[in-house]
Amino acid sequence: MKVLLVGGGGREHALAWALSGSGLLSRLWVAPGNAGIAEIAECVAIGAEDVAGLVAFATAQAVDLVVVGPEAPLTLGLADACAAAGLRCFGPSAAAARLEGSKAFTREVATAAGVPGAEWARFTDPAAARAYIREKGAPIVVKADGLAAGKGVVVAASVEEAERAVAEIMEDRVHGAAGAEILVEECLVGQEVSFFALCDGTTALPMAAAQDHKRVGEGDTGPNTGGMGAYSPPPAFTPEIEAEVMARIIRPTLAEMTRRGTPFCGVLFAGLMLTDGGPRLIEFNVRFGDPECQVLMMRLQSDLLAALLAACDGELDRFTLRWSREAAMVVVMAARGYPGAYAKGSVIEGLEAAAQVPGAQIFHAGTARAEDGSLIATGGRVLGVAGSGASLRAARDAAYAAVDAVRWPGGFCRRDIGWRALDR
Ligand code: AMP
Ligand code: GLY
Repeated sequence: MKVLLVGGGGREHALAWALSGSGLLSRLWVAPGNAGIAEIAECVAIGAEDVAGLVAFATAQAVDLVVVGPEAPLTLGLADACAAAGLRCFGPSAAAARLEGSKAFTREVATAAGVPGAEWARFTDPAAARAYIREKGAPIVVKADGLAAGKGVVVAASVEEAERAVAEIMEDRVHGAAGAEILVEECLVGQEVSFFALCDGTTALPMAAAQDHKRVGEGDTGPNTGGMGAYSPPPAFTPEIEAEVMARIIRPTLAEMTRRGTPFCGVLFAGLMLTDGGPRLIEFNVRFGDPECQVLMMRLQSDLLAALLAACDGELDRFTLRWSREAAMVVVMAARGYPGAYAKGSVIEGLEAAAQVPGAQIFHAGTARAEDGSLIATGGRVLGVAGSGASLRAARDAAYAAVDAVRWPGGFCRRDIGWRALDR
């Protein structure tokens, strides 16, 4: 089978790596890919948001499946454009991708489906939002409604901080148009986990959970990032909790989306808080998480391509997914300065030695080849250095042994990925 994978980050390197292991695969293109992906697939210079360009390429090459990594092309209607062109596509329609594109839409669907989550209210008027915040008190959460690159959320410890967030998002428009409407939510307390379910519109198949580390600093401090490291499985996410999440969050959401005439096909990513009162929904995403996808692919034993095809063809009720009992951890290496301003073009060495570490796997996120062939950093998050092992501790040791083999003065990483599970 011929596959076109869309995206160029660590998630897509991990997906390309897993797809490469499929006996069903004959040819794999990745648009636009990166330097690591280029070692295992054919990279094509089409941007991940160039919907027309992607559809034209997939049609010309008669690909059997388009796999969409990031959310942006989905919210732009790539899956719909593929359907119109007679191409099979793994990823939801633009209408179903609103589960990620609009937080208010997610709250409406979740409320209609009876999904347990935070108490919430939406505002287009800053004065009304301030009044509500004063009435509810702190801690309280303020969110820009639209996509704000993961940065439109303020978990405010005080009423003053929450009111400042309202001013910044709605009046100063620090996230642009995404701040026209805000949500104000109850602050949920507990451990946060990312859970992934494969969906074919009717059937949802549990995949696995992972714990991400969104803050840039050790001990989960400092500004939010796209994710500085992840591990799977999180010990706090027991089989009982997974069953509850499937029964109360994933399946009711899938049914509600179908009832609305916008069935969800793709991977549903539930951001959950494990509270004392049980698992609660924080948000949905309509794609694999990054870096979570990297540890999921390290643990997946089933044929990924067969699974994605079953999701596209509505055959998940006859499919089972097998997972390794081993643990996996990924440590993100980022350019110094990330998530603020950072330099591009610094040279990275030592990846051959890192890849030799038993149990290690290197995924590229933001890399390219310079003209002289050297590997250079081109993004904020640059490498995902992953390890697997019989225990989380062994996975961590493999990942950090590989990190220590990387020679990249322009980069940094957190040294404490997995601390919540390992310090117990
Ligand atoms: P989101 O962009 O919705 O994923 O939010 C970013 C981060 O803010 C989440 O990963 C949580 O850590 C935190 N967060 C969002 N909503 C809540 C909430 N209602 N209660 C506590 N923390 C939250
Ligand atoms: N790592 C979180 C995300 O992909 O949204």
